[in-house]
Amino acid sequence: LIKAMSPTSILGNNNDGSESAAEFNWDELGFRLIPTDYMYVMKCAKEDKFSQGSLLPYGNIEMNPSAGIINYGQGLFEGLKAHRTEDGRILLFRPDENGQRMKRGADRMCMPSPSVDQFVNAVKQTVLANKRWVPPPGKGSLYIRPLLMGTGPVLGLGPAPEYTLLIYCSPVSSYFRTPLNLKVEDKLYRAISGSGGTGGIKSVTNYAPVYTATTDAKANGFSDVLFLDSATGKYIEEVSSCNVFIVKDNIICTPHIDGAILPGITRKSIIEIAIDLGYEVMERAVSVEEMLGADEMFCTGTAMIVNSVGSVTYKGTRVEYNTGPETLCAKLRATLVGIQTGCLEDTKSWTVNV
Ligand code: COI
Repeated sequence: LIKAMSPTSILGNNNDGSESAAEFNWDELGFRLIPTDYMYVMKCAKEDKFSQGSLLPYGNIEMNPSAGIINYGQGLFEGLKAHRTEDGRILLFRPDENGQRMKRGADRMCMPSPSVDQFVNAVKQTVLANKRWVPPPGKGSLYIRPLLMGTGPVLGLGPAPEYTLLIYCSPVSSYFRTPLNLKVEDKLYRAISGSGGTGGIKSVTNYAPVYTATTDAKANGFSDVLFLDSATGKYIEEVSSCNVFIVKDNIICTPHIDGAILPGITRKSIIEIAIDLGYEVMERAVSVEEMLGADEMFCTGTAMIVNSVGSVTYKGTRVEYNTGPETLCAKLRATLVGIQTGCLEDTKSWTVNV
């Protein structure tokens, strides 16, 4: 049995000097799980509201074999990051946006959800309890993974009787270190096109279905897969784990949010940054032909941050794009990361001190 600990007892422990960076080789960070000290758990019955959560030592959880998430995929996840600044603060980036997105996803998946305040508070507690795992400036970030799950037992198809918000975290650095070489998948789809499906929420059920295509692509030397719309196969949607943008003659285009595209918080922030820097940004359908004729292409996501696409291969034809320090991608990434890490002034109040 794992014993619940109050946040204060945990913070007390961490304040005795052990709060400084964990003994860890930060240069070895990639994007893989490094278990940290604590996780946050808050439960609620189907007809109730979330109220009181607690921090527990990080570890395996018990679940009824008939839990809604295991049997019928009733679950959502979120992803956000905490950065350590040069002056020793820890910053979250737009955590309220994740809380709002979780609420929208919970409505679609017939689950109760924590309020945005409860969500942000739970994220802060998780980060504080694990603050020795927030990498030093320049070495990466603490990736925070909130899960909302139907954990009560169900056999007949229907909403689970009990729900759990569980938040764990892991220090990470880059998801990819080099420009991506994408394969366009023209037989399998990530989400149902248009409104009505679940492509626009972070349902756990949207992710494993990409594995067939990504495993095959990776075996053939590609970094990841770009998916097309399922209605016509003519328009680009997103890469398995991130949103996509193209740049032609300094005009930026990204597929519009239509129910199949995940409304990425990095996507939204990059659009705002680009507009502030004076660029034209269009959110609309982007055809495969248009993408193949672009000057630049890049991906955005919490895990991905902002990463250049070096090439795209469609039905055996490979097209290359501009990459490197002179690209718009590099400029937008530098601005975003500057704000996230406290190096650039945060004029929009996007960052939140933990
Ligand atoms: C994120 O960027 O946070 C994601 O959700 C991508 C994940 C599949 C690694």
